[in-house]
Amino acid sequence: MTLPRIALIGAGRTAAHLGQALIGVRRPAVALGARSAERAGPLAQALGLAVLSPAAAAQAADWVFLCVRDADIAPLCASIPWRADQLVLHCSGATELDALAAAQAAGAQVAGFHPLQLMANPLPTAAEAAQAFMGIRIGIEAGPDARLELEALVLALGAQPLHLQAGQRARYHAAANAAASALLAPLDLASRQAAQALGCTPDQAWAALAPLAEGTLRAARARGLAGALSGPMARAEVAVLSAHLQALAGPDEGLYRALMQALLPLATQRVGAAQAQGLVAVLKA
Ligand SMILES: NC(=O)c1ccc[n+]([C@@H]2O[C@H](COP(=O)([O-])OP(=O)(O)OC[C@H]3O[C@@H](n4cnc5c(N)ncnc54)[C@H](OP(=O)(O)O)[C@@H]3O)[C@@H](O)[C@H]2O)c1
Repeated sequence: MTLPRIALIGAGRTAAHLGQALIGVRRPAVALGARSAERAGPLAQALGLAVLSPAAAAQAADWVFLCVRDADIAPLCASIPWRADQLVLHCSGATELDALAAAQAAGAQVAGFHPLQLMANPLPTAAEAAQAFMGIRIGIEAGPDARLELEALVLALGAQPLHLQAGQRARYHAAANAAASALLAPLDLASRQAAQALGCTPDQAWAALAPLAEGTLRAARARGLAGALSGPMARAEVAVLSAHLQALAGPDEGLYRALMQALLPLATQRVGAAQAQGLVAVLKA
């Protein structure tokens, strides 16, 4: 079976990880499209490709991944002359496939390919990119023919397909954002408060707190979310929680209270409804 030729358009973090990972599974991209040869140069060099215009890169391929930010997907797609034998994909979680309407109007198939992974490094090594895809879920939205081929690619990358529903992307992506960047808000609060309590910088405080955060995530994967709960919310220690709230002031007190209130369903699973009532009472504003 002849494998489709793949082009990547956009030379940012997602293109860098996908490009390196595709080399790792012996399906290297044949073209890299960008609007700035200078900015795309380091990635092109790492992938062993020349920088082409988006239209020229698309022309060279059967599958074209638009690895650009959400607002850029529709205008980029509309700027390219598509062929009916192509599959055009975007990598967004939030954007519906109608952003690819211009490709569909030209008879091309369209699909979504959203790695549920944080790809923060603009120039990962091959090993880092392979690791980024290993064991993750990749959200796929595609017609029946493309879906089978995309699932094969997902499995080749060491990932698992997750089928996305049209019309549900904003909710799905809000969930992804809650599981990713939203975690940083309590960690920022924790670092600032620990810095004040310990007389150190927030960075030093974060270095001390990071293993605790990592241990919590490991426990949540091994034992489930309620199983990973610790501290006063897991033991219904009303006096300890009350002392926390008194020690904090201003916006941090409000954020801490809201975070603990958001934990009440998990705490109730751990301590039961009767004991959780004490926590509910102390957390009332
Ligand atoms: N990074 C992640 O963790 C992650 C994870 C899953 C999914 N995604 C999704 O992947 C997509 C890309 O995100 P990203 O993080 O890779 O973004 P990024 O690092 O900001 O890269 C975006 C790239 O798009 C290029 N671009 C924008 N408009 C273009 C155009 N008209 N023609 C050619 N290139 C163009 C930019 O080039 P310039 O240098 O010229 O601006 C830049 O190289 C988004 O939909 C995002 O939701 C990202």
